Amino acid sequence: MDWVYINEVAKHVGKEVEIKGWLYNKTHKGKLWFLLVRDGTGIIQAVAFKDDVDEQTFENCDKLTQESSLKVMGKISEDKRAPGGYELQVHKLEIIQVAEDYPITPKEHGTTFLMDHRHLWLRSSRQHAILKIRHEIIKASRDFFDNRGFVLVDTPIFTPAACEGTTTLFETDYFGDKVYLTQSGQLYSEASMMSFGKVYTCSPAFRAEKSKTRRHLTEFWLVEPEMAFFDFEDNMKLAEDHVTYIVERVLENKKEELKVIERDTAPLENVKPPFPRISYDDAVKMLQDEGIDFEWGGDFGGTDETIISEKFDKPLFVHRFPAAIKAFYMKRDAEREELALGCDLLAPEGYGEIIGGGQREDNLEILLKRIKEHNLPREAFEWYLDLRKYGSVPHSGYGLGIERTLAWICKLKHVRESVPFPRMIYRTTP
Ligand code: 4AD
Ligand code: MG
Repeated sequence: MDWVYINEVAKHVGKEVEIKGWLYNKTHKGKLWFLLVRDGTGIIQAVAFKDDVDEQTFENCDKLTQESSLKVMGKISEDKRAPGGYELQVHKLEIIQVAEDYPITPKEHGTTFLMDHRHLWLRSSRQHAILKIRHEIIKASRDFFDNRGFVLVDTPIFTPAACEGTTTLFETDYFGDKVYLTQSGQLYSEASMMSFGKVYTCSPAFRAEKSKTRRHLTEFWLVEPEMAFFDFEDNMKLAEDHVTYIVERVLENKKEELKVIERDTAPLENVKPPFPRISYDDAVKMLQDEGIDFEWGGDFGGTDETIISEKFDKPLFVHRFPAAIKAFYMKRDAEREELALGCDLLAPEGYGEIIGGGQREDNLEILLKRIKEHNLPREAFEWYLDLRKYGSVPHSGYGLGIERTLAWICKLKHVRESVPFPRMIYRTTP
């Protein structure tokens, strides 16, 4: 008998098949058992009628508890009333394991309880849908760059140098030496960009974020493109097309999942270029006009970003930040030395920053000066400085945070549901 996955049953109507999976739920009515069986690809209703099955099978239906693993054989039929539109008329059911009392039941559970049981919580339909959308975002990003001739070049996790400031470094012992977990693959991507022209990485990043907010993880995933001969504007254009493509792909391929999580898709349909571009100066004015006590020169906090992004119905770029609050590698604006050619993309509906990037400093002397100003150890950056000695070119790039992007697309309250096993200041288990 053919083993089929639930998302393929439409091709097997009228045929005998075998489905392997887990019991999601069951109800009983006289001589009938209605079993909801899931196998990772979908959920199907399996109906066992006492007169059609052997005694063992009917007893097995009784014994099955939530999340018990099983094999069920029977005929597929179309049934508009059944969840998913198809039904399995059971002929035989074998139990693989009777699950112990499952801790996650249809009743409401607190967040801490669910997070402590994250390894089981992943099976619930909502979490399942969110993580399938995560897959689509990563796949769409890879396709986006692959289709444009970018080369995927991986970057290391153990690094000798800080990329994004020294306050969020995770330090670790490396055979008696000190190394850090990478905060971003950017510096290495700049090296591979000089070999391939257009590159990207998709990699975990680590930051010792001591803040307990709905946007911060200590381990998260970054998609980072880096392009030779791209200026600041070219970079924003690429980011805009990238985000547009991600949203299109999710809307097209993940309709069912968006329904499961009850996402209103109207705001997503609206994500089309061009995205508004506003300067840091104007963003500060916007906050001040709202009566917020914000001084020019400061960095936006989560609440500030929420206020700014709520004013737009599309993602928007904020650009030309005070150089003092940005990383050492950012190129300065030729017209205003105090500004960095950096841009952040803020997601709408109050979500805030999902992308950070900009044009890089390509002059050796200036870069060296910045490294000193930022009190960074020159030795750790010698190799990076080489990139400005041997054929330096104007270049730009950005990093898109997968979890923040997913949190926005799924409209999650907290970024912790956007990654299978979140790592946050107070959580390293399961
Ligand atoms: O703005 P960031 O710090 O930029 C960089 O790391 C650059 N080196 C990227 C580049 O130009 N190649 O981080 C990029 C993105 C943010 O916009 C955000 O989406 C995400 O990474 N991010 C986090 N996501 C979850 N938890 C955290 N603690 C994050 N920190 C940054
Ligand atoms: Mg940033």
